Amino acid sequence: MPCTIVLGAQWGDEGKGKIVNILASDMDAVARFQGGANAGHTLVLDGKKIVLHQIPSGIFNANCVNFITGGCVVDPEALVEEIEMLDNFGETVDPRRLKIAENAHIVTRMHKWIDSIEGGKVGTTGRGIGPCYVSKARRTGIRFKNILDGSYKTLFEGMFSECVKHYGLESRNYSDFFEPFEDAIHKVAQFACDTRYILFKSIAEEKNILFEGAQGAMLDIDNGSYPYVTSSNTSIGGALTGAGVFIDFMERIGVMKAYCTRVGNGPFPTELKDETGEKLRQIGNEFGATTGRPRRCGWLDLKLLKESCMLNGFTSLALTKMDCMSGFEKIKAGVGSDSSEHPIFKEFDGWTEDISLLTSYNELPSACRQFISYIEDFLGIPFKLISLGPDRNQTLNMEQKI
Ligand code: IMP
Repeated sequence: MPCTIVLGAQWGDEGKGKIVNILASDMDAVARFQGGANAGHTLVLDGKKIVLHQIPSGIFNANCVNFITGGCVVDPEALVEEIEMLDNFGETVDPRRLKIAENAHIVTRMHKWIDSIEGGKVGTTGRGIGPCYVSKARRTGIRFKNILDGSYKTLFEGMFSECVKHYGLESRNYSDFFEPFEDAIHKVAQFACDTRYILFKSIAEEKNILFEGAQGAMLDIDNGSYPYVTSSNTSIGGALTGAGVFIDFMERIGVMKAYCTRVGNGPFPTELKDETGEKLRQIGNEFGATTGRPRRCGWLDLKLLKESCMLNGFTSLALTKMDCMSGFEKIKAGVGSDSSEHPIFKEFDGWTEDISLLTSYNELPSACRQFISYIEDFLGIPFKLISLGPDRNQTLNMEQKI
């Protein structure tokens, strides 16, 4: 099963970090292909919570090579912090284990400055992601290539002057912006290389490679709820352009949560603005891993997921946070919409039992199994994994449905 892709099937925060971490133990490589430090992949390892923002989750597998490919935007200052955090955790990040594409674009403090001015309408994470992709599209961006050939300084100066002209930056702040940047890029330049050929060779050698999506497919700039989207292609299409090689994915796994959350603005038909939504937020600890913002919560939206399945051609799904659904008298799922675009819900019986420590599918309460079967039938795609808690042991492997 050489190339596998794992994507968030909803609006992000589906619990991809845990799923990728489980799968990464069998992988030779893990690659990120879009996004940047706006992502927050939460893992629980030996009871300790760890949040990765830019480094792929394969970093915890000593034999795994981790790629940040050309479709990503890399914040060098945040990357240095992440490397130091991993170092404190006992995980050394060296160029043998982390490779960054020389065509990946670099997020600067100017991008974050612009995001702080312009990102409010969408409710961005403020990590400078959109403005960095704007620089890329305007062909004024700074890439790792420019660090290697020394041309980054001129590009940085040009970008800074634009910000003085159009975004109220003051010229006297130049060194506050440039010095931390220069310090960080010199630390991360060692990771830069042409990742395309390394990946191409690994694919040809039939190595096991996992492509790890960030955010969720429905935040895709082309296929999501524009303009309330992120600035990259978070769906499967982004993997090929982002990685810069053809990838014939054998497994395409969509990660979906048993309910829905969304951070930032934009349509959310099954949103619960009442105490049930608050209950989901508290039980699911739905606060942003990157920004700490409370996430908007609501019932599962199967209509949205159907669209996500069409977009990504999932071969299987991983269902997460099923344990959070215990204790609701009734559970609902959006299954369509009426002529006024209001959601149509299907109602399910709830269950009270704590399911977080169960180890087989057949032990789940029958109401819980009915909910799961309905989702599987509605989407026509089998579940590969069902997650019952943050720890990797709290996972049912549905390929051995027992
Ligand atoms: P940006 O990616 O920071 O530009 O934000 C654009 C939109 O995507 C906002 O609604 C963000 O809240 C959302 N977003 C970005 N990254 C994530 C993520 O990792 N999880 C969930 N939502 C995200």
